[in-house]
Amino acid sequence: MAAASTAAAVTPARSIFRKVAVVIILLMALDMIRYHFKRMKMKARARWFSLPFLGDFPTIVADPTKFWDNLIALAPNGISAFKILTQAAIFVTNPKFAKQIFDDQENFTLFVHPNSPKLLGEDNLVYMSREDLVRWRRAMVPNLKKAEVLHAAAYTAVNSCSNMLRKIAARSPAEQAENDVRYDIRLMNAHLSLKVFLGGYLQKGEAEWIADDLIVVTNGFIAAPVDLPFTDLGKGKAASQRIMKVLHRISDECFRRMKNNEEPLCVLDRITDSCIKAGIKGYGRTPADIAHAGLDFCFAAQDATTSALCWCIHSMEKHPEVADKIREELDRVLDKDVDFTEALPRAYNANKLPYLRAAAINQLQYRPPVPMVPHIARHDTELGDHKIEKGTIAFASVMGSKANIEGADRFEPDPDNMLDPAFKKVLCFGGGPHMCPGRFYASNTVALFMATLVHGYDVDRIRKPGGEDIIYLPTLYPRDSLYVMKSRAEAA
Ligand SMILES: *[C@@H]1O[C@H](CO)[C@@H](O)[C@H](O)[C@H]1NC(C)=O
Repeated sequence: MAAASTAAAVTPARSIFRKVAVVIILLMALDMIRYHFKRMKMKARARWFSLPFLGDFPTIVADPTKFWDNLIALAPNGISAFKILTQAAIFVTNPKFAKQIFDDQENFTLFVHPNSPKLLGEDNLVYMSREDLVRWRRAMVPNLKKAEVLHAAAYTAVNSCSNMLRKIAARSPAEQAENDVRYDIRLMNAHLSLKVFLGGYLQKGEAEWIADDLIVVTNGFIAAPVDLPFTDLGKGKAASQRIMKVLHRISDECFRRMKNNEEPLCVLDRITDSCIKAGIKGYGRTPADIAHAGLDFCFAAQDATTSALCWCIHSMEKHPEVADKIREELDRVLDKDVDFTEALPRAYNANKLPYLRAAAINQLQYRPPVPMVPHIARHDTELGDHKIEKGTIAFASVMGSKANIEGADRFEPDPDNMLDPAFKKVLCFGGGPHMCPGRFYASNTVALFMATLVHGYDVDRIRKPGGEDIIYLPTLYPRDSLYVMKSRAEAA
């Protein structure tokens, strides 16, 4: 009797379990079949297997370098397919298609990282499609290209780079060999962008903790999208709110001063001034909106610039012939009667260092910091004879495209024969209306850092196996940036 009742209880449970299993297996099969047909329709080659539901997500997280290299190898000059969770995605290495994705705002829009609205707010510069944000961007972006802004920033950059390098070189060689300079550069960059964007508005001690907090925000970006107080995303959000509090105070002050027609002291002042003068009606009208712009710019100037400067040291050590030519130009052009930190930005701003400028531009094309830019297809569309369905995530690969552009894979600066001085062909700053508005500021920073480095220091790389491999953080870095720097003045 007891045995019979147990059997009766188990049978329905077992059959439910079986039914659920069948449904799950069917859903898995459906997910795989759907993906298969999508990618056939797109005529894209794909990896031999992608998991149901999870897609290639676990593989990407486990070893991104290998994964992306693999996709490039599948279609070195075209389109390959992969799967993120249940979503079909394409990886575009053909420069013409990549450019089309950047340019065609009707069919492709930037795919915003799910963590982004939490960290940078809902109203963000990168969500371009909204009419009022487009207007706002148009009013303020030109400030980042103005000569007087770039010229002032050059002095700040040379000072910051020179202080940082002095600090690194003051360490003993053994200590230097242990310290990855990536961390020094990241901190320097945070301080530099705070100075350029917020200038004298920061109170004593604020730059220090905000620089640390900016790094916490960056870590939030690469974290899993789990928003709890103890996760990296939660911590990033809290850091962003702390920074915003200061930015609100500063933007109130910018508004008050610019309405009184006082002298602009920093980029945020200029942005405020432009928005007031343009009579912006929708977004961008209030100090709170300007505070958000401040966060966007301070944040945007961090990670990619840090990557670019790490690659600068790498190139200068690897290509002593280029370093020597930069030195030769500096020796020839710079005014020896004034301090280097004064003479360098002065000559650079006066356009008297063409070789240095060419070297910086070539550097950015040769080692682009941002490997790819994800977009999402808003409508069914086409790339050549590939049919792309609405909802497909389209990664325009900067690294893949670069390999197909003649000359972009070489580091041979030539001011008389520059590959792409405006960064339009080589997509290292993106393209179309989204092209990075900070590209002039960034390429100047690269040039000035290079000059400060080679003029002041001899650099030896600490070679470790695999140390020069490219890693994704998510911008690109050499696996390690371990150097011993010796002051040239002391050696002489
Ligand atoms: C968007 O895609 C459609 C279909 O491929 C195409 O006809 C249209 O020209 C595209 N829009 C733009 C702005 O290129």
